[in-house]
Amino acid sequence: MIQIDLSNSTAFLPQDWLASREGALNQARAMLEEGNGPGGEFTGWVHLPRDYDKEEFARIQKAAKRIQSDSQALVVIGIGGSYLGARAVVELLRSPNYNLKKKDTPDIFFAGNGLSTRALLETIELVKDRDFSVNVISKSGTTTEPAVAFRIFKALLEEKYGKEGARKRIYATTDARRGALKGLADAEGYETFVVPDAVGGRYSVLTAVGLLPIAVSGVDLDELMGGAAQAMEALAKPGLDNPAWQYAAARHGLYCAGKSTEVLVGYEPSFRFFAEWWKQLYGESEGKDQKGLFPASVEFTADLHSMGQYIQQGQRIMFETVVRFAPSGQEYTIPNDPDNVDGLNFLSGKDLSFVAEQAMRGTLLAHVDGGVPNVVLQAGAQDAHTAGELIYFFEYSCGLSGYLLGVNPFDQPGVEAYKKNMYALLGKPGFEAEKARLEARLGG
Ligand code: PA5
Repeated sequence: MIQIDLSNSTAFLPQDWLASREGALNQARAMLEEGNGPGGEFTGWVHLPRDYDKEEFARIQKAAKRIQSDSQALVVIGIGGSYLGARAVVELLRSPNYNLKKKDTPDIFFAGNGLSTRALLETIELVKDRDFSVNVISKSGTTTEPAVAFRIFKALLEEKYGKEGARKRIYATTDARRGALKGLADAEGYETFVVPDAVGGRYSVLTAVGLLPIAVSGVDLDELMGGAAQAMEALAKPGLDNPAWQYAAARHGLYCAGKSTEVLVGYEPSFRFFAEWWKQLYGESEGKDQKGLFPASVEFTADLHSMGQYIQQGQRIMFETVVRFAPSGQEYTIPNDPDNVDGLNFLSGKDLSFVAEQAMRGTLLAHVDGGVPNVVLQAGAQDAHTAGELIYFFEYSCGLSGYLLGVNPFDQPGVEAYKKNMYALLGKPGFEAEKARLEARLGG
């Protein structure tokens, strides 16, 4: 299980930071476990690693095998919670260079996560002359970005394989009963997978939303779910030694002590999208009612040469949460240079991971000395089991954190504001009055 080290945070917290939150944590735990707190109807993810739909899970694995056998590429269409989790796990476990690697699984391209014409054209170019399938993921089925992308890739598939051939290559992950995508999928006869009613987008990576693309990339789903199930059992136990309780309490304590930003730190380039997933999870769950830590992320050591200056000496508004994986066992010995031109022969014969370890240890202390506390999360090896544990750890801690903060961690009312304006400006029927008001303000 994930170990938490708070030794570089306690000096920034009052002495009773944990004990004083015991009652609130107990209450938050009960609300999560029983689903009776604010947003309780969206706590279906809490027991998901145990109660997931086994029949659908088998169907996901079967579909993944089919895609692996008939496709050189899979286009995964989705945005936000219908996108980030899958990409996070594929990159963490298979590599950020997954598509460039020699492998016996299809390339995976993510589309519909923005409105960039350049990105869209590039993806079309990369798949059009290859055998490909599409997994369109949208709980509502009406989100503009994925809906537009799906129109385009559906047409491309139909042009290439005919309507019937395309039908066999489209997999729709959506609501069980409602929505435009569900209607279309039923009418066209696509294989469908379900985003459960009780699971919101940012908590959905362990449903078909994340699992189908993750399985296509060759990750062992049983290991992933097994890691999550182990975390679920461990974190359900009440007590101040529970690492999720400690993480949630420390975050809340630091927030109350004036830290308004949490920076998630990874030391592996493959962690980058995991951090993006984490940012959505915490940002959308806590950022409401004018409250909440601002979730940011950095990749060290690369960002020590860019953001490092700010973290060391800028506004003292942040703390770091550092995720460490157990040593990979991979080795690379730094060679000797007889001329020692760069003066680095003191490193000759040392393993690169030893250098990385010292960089991390030095950074932790430098940042604490500069007034930036840090929370260190020690995870297991960078594998599917650990990924499952980490996902669940962060989800559970997020639920606890939201309740400690006094917000509903499972809604996202603020996401609608831009959509309303965009629909109005695009001339969607029903938004005519709003369009006139916005155009006047924009001077157009
Ligand atoms: O967490 C969320 O609810 C959002 O990020 C959604 O997942 C995102 O807006 C996509 O929504 P949908 O799956 O309905 O297309």
